Amino acid sequence: MTSDRPRIAVYFASHDGHTRKIVDRLAEHLGARGVGVTIADLSTGAPPVIDVEANLVLLAAAIRYGVHLRCARRFLAQLRTKVPDTRIAVLSVNLTARKPGRQTAEGNVYLRKWLKRTGLRPALAAAVAGRLDYPAYRWFDRMMIQAIMTISGGPTDPDTVIDYTDWAAVEDLSEKLAALVMSAS
Ligand SMILES: Cc1cc2nc3c(=O)[nH]c(=O)nc-3n(C[C@H](O)[C@H](O)[C@H](O)COP(=O)(O)O)c2cc1C
Repeated sequence: MTSDRPRIAVYFASHDGHTRKIVDRLAEHLGARGVGVTIADLSTGAPPVIDVEANLVLLAAAIRYGVHLRCARRFLAQLRTKVPDTRIAVLSVNLTARKPGRQTAEGNVYLRKWLKRTGLRPALAAAVAGRLDYPAYRWFDRMMIQAIMTISGGPTDPDTVIDYTDWAAVEDLSEKLAALVMSAS
């Protein structure tokens, strides 16, 4: 690392690539605000190097079948042995967050349960809606998501592809993260 700029270390866990897209967008906005950003993919299986020097660590994780991806859950446990909760931020990517009021730790069931189970008290916790892409899913996954969507009043047409991400909210989030990075530097 050659720069002395305040820095955020971003770690992400993605199955279908959308969380990566969100993280890339966050990095763009953060970079424009003068924050140094490093990005590490937890889904590769390679043991992640924890950047203990970063002013803030962001863990962004996709939900599949009710839980955050395993590599993210494992990483969080490791991370907390090296970095205090006050320098950790978490971002959950799921389809439940497409609904109003489901973007906060209180309003998003996955985030709420994650924080409760781990006891994590992060500097920031947020949920962002992900992507629905029936044509890309395997038969079983498509059936399951259609069932979930039937219950939750979402689309069930197997041709549906919708990016539910509120990209303006992603930009707002980058502002909050930048403020945290700056205050921790
Ligand atoms: C097999 C499968 C299971 C999913 N399970 C859930 C779920 O339980 N709750 C939810 O809100 N979203 C669920 N989702 C939606 C994903 O969280 C969403 O598509 C997200 O954008 C995936 O991120 P990724 O592309 O980074 O893997 C599921 C998606 C798939 C394909």
